[in-house]
Amino acid sequence: MRLRFKLKTVFILYFTVSLLGLIYALMHLGKLHSLQGHTKKEPTKPHLPTIYVITPTYARLVQKAELTRLSQTFLHVPQLHWIVVEDSSQRTDLVSHFLEHSGLVFTHLHIPTPQDRKLQEGDPNWLKPRGVEQRNEGLRWLRENIWAGETAEGVVYFADDDNTYSLQLFEEMRWTQRVSVWPVGLVGGMRYEGPVVEQGRVVRFHTGWRPSRPFPLDMAGFATSLRLVLRNPEARFDGNSPMGFVESSFLQGLVTMEELEPKAEMCTKVLVWHTRTEKPKMKREEALQAQGLGSDSKVEV
Ligand code: UGA
Ligand code: MN
Repeated sequence: MRLRFKLKTVFILYFTVSLLGLIYALMHLGKLHSLQGHTKKEPTKPHLPTIYVITPTYARLVQKAELTRLSQTFLHVPQLHWIVVEDSSQRTDLVSHFLEHSGLVFTHLHIPTPQDRKLQEGDPNWLKPRGVEQRNEGLRWLRENIWAGETAEGVVYFADDDNTYSLQLFEEMRWTQRVSVWPVGLVGGMRYEGPVVEQGRVVRFHTGWRPSRPFPLDMAGFATSLRLVLRNPEARFDGNSPMGFVESSFLQGLVTMEELEPKAEMCTKVLVWHTRTEKPKMKREEALQAQGLGSDSKVEV
C-alpha cells in the first residue's frame, strides 16, 4: 500500500515536471518564431535577389498607421525581408503583435537612441539625425546572420516608416550591383531631389542645399547590394556627422559618384515620396481624460 502510494507520487511528480518542461519549450519556440520572422507570404521566388528593407520606428500615436501602410505595400513585393528596428530598450507588444500578423518575412530588432542623441520637445528636427542607431543595428544583424558567400545575392534599402513607396521602386533596385540611385519627391524643400544623369552616368545632383556634399541624397534615394554591405563591415552611419551628411557617412568609401547606378528611367521618375505625417491633436481626448471619460486604453490605435 505504502509502496503503491509512493509510486503514484513519483509518477505524478514525473508527469508534472515533464509537462512543465514541454510547456516551457513550446513557449520558447513561439518566442523565437516571433523574433525571427515568418515565411507566410507565398509564393516566395528564390531565384530573385532578396530585398532587405531596414526600417527604424518609434512609439507614437501614428506608429501603427504608418506600419500598416508600409506593410501593405511590402506585401505586394516578392522576396522581401523586412528588418524592423524599434527605437526602444525592449521590443514593444504593439510592434511584436503587428509583425506576427503582418504576413511578411521579418526580423524584429530594437536599440534605443541614447538620451543625449534624441531630439527634445521643441527642438527643430534638423538638430540631430534620427534612426541612425537603428539602421546600424539592422546592418549588424545582416552581417552576423547572412553568409557573405557568392549566394548572398540581395539588396539593402533603408525605408523610413513615414515615406510613400511605389511598388515599381523595388523592381528598380532589385538588381543593384553596388549602389543604385533615383530621385525622391517632396524632400529638402523641393518638388524632388535626385541625381542628374548624362550619357548613362551620374554627373551631379539636383538639390536645393549644399550640392558639394559627397552624396547629397536622401536616405530613401539609394539602395546598396548586400554583397557590398557584407564585404565592407566598417561601413555604417555616423550619428555625429553634420546635418545632411549622414547618408554620405555610409556611402563614402563604398562607392564613387561615377559608379552609381541610375534607376527610374535615368533618374527622371519619382517613385518614392518623403511624405511626413501630421502629429494628431489630442485636445479633446485630454479634456475628456481629465473628466475620467477618455477613450478606452485597451483599444490599440
Ligand atoms: C529625414 C530623412 O529623410 C531621414 O532619412 C533622416 O533620418 C531624418 O531626416 C533625420 O534628420 O535624421 P524625417 O522625415 O525628418 O527624415 O525623419 P523621420 O521620418 O521623423 O525619422 C526617420 C526615421 O527614424 C523614421 O523611420 C522614424 O520612425 C525613425 N525615428 C524617428 C526613430 O527611430 N526614433 C526617433 O526618435 C525618431
Ligand atoms: Mn520621415
